[in-house]
Amino acid sequence: MTFSPLGLAAPAHRDETLLDVARRAGAPLGNSCGGIGICARCRVRVVNGAENLDEPTTIERRVSEQRGLAPEERLACQAIVCGDCEITTGYW
Ligand code: FES
Repeated sequence: MTFSPLGLAAPAHRDETLLDVARRAGAPLGNSCGGIGICARCRVRVVNGAENLDEPTTIERRVSEQRGLAPEERLACQAIVCGDCEITTGYW
């Protein structure tokens, strides 16, 4: 998976979240709740490959509604990577 425009990339291992892969790639992502789906600091925008992310969990759907995430946004700590994708944030 690719982190744009940072120019960083890393392959996803089985059952890893976007946040897991970002950490391994060295891409800094906000995560003040430690990845338990409360803070929404880890929200990212999926540029390509949204179909390669697992369906949102109940936690992610609830936070998405409360925080008003756009359809192309996901919580990195909740989204399981199943294939190649490209993500970005407003602060990279
Ligand atoms: S790290 Fe807090 S919601 Fe993802």
